[in-house]
Amino acid sequence: MTTIRAVSSVDIDQRREALKQVFAQASVCTRCQELAATRKSVVFGAGNANADLMFVGEAPGASEDEQGLPFVGRAGKLLETLLKEIGLERKDVFIANVLKCRPPGNRDPLPLEIENCREYLYRQVELIQPRVICSLGNFSTKLLRDDPTGITRLHGQPQELTLGRRTVRLYPIFHPAAALYTPRMLETLRQDFARLPELLAQPEPAQPVAGEAEALEQAAASREQSEGGPAKSAAAAPADAKSRGGALSDVGAPGGGSAGGSPAGGDEQAGAVDQLGLF
Ligand code: URA
Repeated sequence: MTTIRAVSSVDIDQRREALKQVFAQASVCTRCQELAATRKSVVFGAGNANADLMFVGEAPGASEDEQGLPFVGRAGKLLETLLKEIGLERKDVFIANVLKCRPPGNRDPLPLEIENCREYLYRQVELIQPRVICSLGNFSTKLLRDDPTGITRLHGQPQELTLGRRTVRLYPIFHPAAALYTPRMLETLRQDFARLPELLAQPEPAQPVAGEAEALEQAAASREQSEGGPAKSAAAAPADAKSRGGALSDVGAPGGGSAGGSPAGGDEQAGAVDQLGLF
């Protein structure tokens, strides 16, 4: 089975380059002071920039922080096994996390850290343009749905969701790290995985018409401001994120260049290629 779209190589190249620019920004990000001070690397994500299937985990662990790549530990090995069972490899998909930096001691991500990092994930989704996103476990499912309902209730149930400017099928599944220790959960995860080929074969969800996604974002942002809390819409980018660290959303647009408060110099770009691993 192939999950790579047939698009022109110019289009792929442009999106890959834009993704590298977002990585260059993330690699010098200091929005979360504690994470910036304690991380060894920013684990941006790795895989195929043209993938139809994207996985979103929680946050890098120690091995990921060390190597700069997501899911390289035991949970990653299980993910690879499950992919193989449905005829896929890592190079066919894109794997990212809610947080790009390891929380010290593997503590849970803090709400502010999730909020700070959300825009990077949304830009990844906009540029990779997956059809299906598997949220792995509670953190990414709650973040992407902007709702506290847990993974036990939601796993295996696809739903259409607009993230940033992209409508995808979200498919929540158990986190492979949790399934490592619970045989019944592993069986459920395997069953949910088995439905992925069918989901990937479905036509792409209708995309927001030009201007609609921006309007949704703006409405959510102003709701957020008037309510003094996070917006409820999954389409909402953080209101202040637009101004924080420069216009992240401009990356990849003609003349977008490097934003994020720190110019993406040649060294960072070179580092980006390495860290992006397969992509
Ligand atoms: N668990 C995650 O959620 N992400 C990783 O990258 C590794 C383990």
